[in-house]
Amino acid sequence: MRKYKNMNKLKLAVFASHSGSNLQAIIDNIKNGYLNAEIVAVISNNSNAYALERARLAKIDTFHISSKTHPNETDYLNAILNILDSKKVDLIILAGYMKPIPVEIINKYYNRILNIHPALLPKFGGSGMYGMNVHKAVIESKEKTSGATVHIVDEKYDNGKILYQESVNVDENDTPETLADKVLQIEHKIYSKVIKLISEGKITL
Ligand code: GRF
Repeated sequence: MRKYKNMNKLKLAVFASHSGSNLQAIIDNIKNGYLNAEIVAVISNNSNAYALERARLAKIDTFHISSKTHPNETDYLNAILNILDSKKVDLIILAGYMKPIPVEIINKYYNRILNIHPALLPKFGGSGMYGMNVHKAVIESKEKTSGATVHIVDEKYDNGKILYQESVNVDENDTPETLADKVLQIEHKIYSKVIKLISEGKITL
């Protein structure tokens, strides 16, 4: 079990494939002093991810690593491991990362990889449950609440220990798009909150 209390700043590696609004929220919360952490790397499998641009603007080291840049699986794995090792990463933060994390990384960083999911897991998780699919499924199931979940990443998709959840009402006139907006607002709050609680030793990994 790991308790980070009184440690130096947590070193974070953020993995993101697209817009990176969750990354931005973490960058902002470090800048405004809410979070005592440092993002030491942003890694994306998508060279066009706006997340990379956000990182560059914040002067964070960025890395594009994909099956295009590293067609050989071992090279791909080693490229990521080298970054994590050389930057002495404490926590891996998945923020809209669309590629599965190799099992070797899950094992090496066990309990130190976090993900955020735009629903109240274990509901609306698992295969195919990403992006707008999640919100469509929630609306179709006539759920009265949805929300966001921060959880540990293990070998199974959306399965690891739940660290934190916050819910939001699903109103009758909500569409998948309006629900996605509401959930995203919560995501931006709770991801930083969980990282803060970990850094203060109030969530033990
Ligand atoms: C979020 O909804 C998150 O829950 C999911 O992917 C989305 C990423 O959004 N895992 P962004 O790239 O952080 O804006």
